[in-house]
Amino acid sequence: MSALDPRALRRAFGSFMTGVTVVTCKAADGTPLGFTANSFSSVSLDPPLLLVCPGRFLSSYDSFASCSHFAVNVLAEGQEDVANTFATFKGDRFARTPHRADPHGNVLIDGALAQFSCTTHQVVDAGDHAILLGEVRAFHHDAGRGLGYAGGQFFSLGLERAALDPAGNTALLGAIITEGDEVLLEKTDAGYRPPQVISTERQHVRRTLAGNLGSRGQPVRLGPAYAVFDDGNVQCSYFLANASAAGSAFTRHPIRDIPGLTFATAAITQMMHRFAEEAETRSFGLYVGDARRGDVHHLPERT
Ligand SMILES: Cc1cc2nc3c(=O)[nH]c(=O)nc-3n(C[C@H](O)[C@H](O)[C@H](O)COP(=O)(O)O)c2cc1C
Repeated sequence: MSALDPRALRRAFGSFMTGVTVVTCKAADGTPLGFTANSFSSVSLDPPLLLVCPGRFLSSYDSFASCSHFAVNVLAEGQEDVANTFATFKGDRFARTPHRADPHGNVLIDGALAQFSCTTHQVVDAGDHAILLGEVRAFHHDAGRGLGYAGGQFFSLGLERAALDPAGNTALLGAIITEGDEVLLEKTDAGYRPPQVISTERQHVRRTLAGNLGSRGQPVRLGPAYAVFDDGNVQCSYFLANASAAGSAFTRHPIRDIPGLTFATAAITQMMHRFAEEAETRSFGLYVGDARRGDVHHLPERT
């Protein structure tokens, strides 16, 4: 037994900023298996080797520790939902995640920034984890930014920068929080708006917003950014979010009623109308621009 405090050690390990991957393999009967991992590392170019560390606590540990091939999918900015699914969801993780089979018998996650299809090179016993070394047989890499992870939180470099780039010192952070078919809003004299906070915190945008909502009695699971714009006074960043527990801080409205509501500003009205439309197909875009003009970028589909 070590004398080190395991929780303090876990926190210290967690201070190392990483990307986020989903590692997949198949069970003996062909069922796809996968888990979220940040223990990924590139190892060697010649031969092309990488590693990832499956923990013994995984329900799929035996399959990963004995697999002949596996894949590592580097998640892109906006794929927090995929990371959460493959970290915590206990049902069929693949049923809620677009994916495909590759010619090497591996399962690849759609929308991942990079996908490495490997054969198992070596499995090394390593305490409560194993080190799974893979030889890369094929890979695919898209331009874009990866999803980040530090101190137990996901972060998106590009979006955090975009939210905090402007000349002003403050940023408005808001969340379009849904629970089932309802959206949570706060009422002001000018009309409804998504719950928001004005922040001078120039880092940890997501943590600031989630912490603020939690302290107001509404814990949330934040998803990708939905709109980033300058409304003339302040840089506004709105994120999609799911209520992670019931709260009573905000009023609930069926999403289909959004077109009939009065919102606090024109920019919020426009954003919420787009949200109501996109919620029908669950195909959301990221708006980047100013309060009047900008572009909508397609985001990975949310389950
Ligand atoms: C950001 C992040 C990184 C993780 N990294 C690892 C890892 O490197 N190795 C591991 O075994 N589990 C890791 N986990 C935990 C597993 O994803 C989680 O325990 C697993 O999906 C549980 O699967 P199971 O329900 O099939 O046991 C990580 C979780 C998160 C959120």
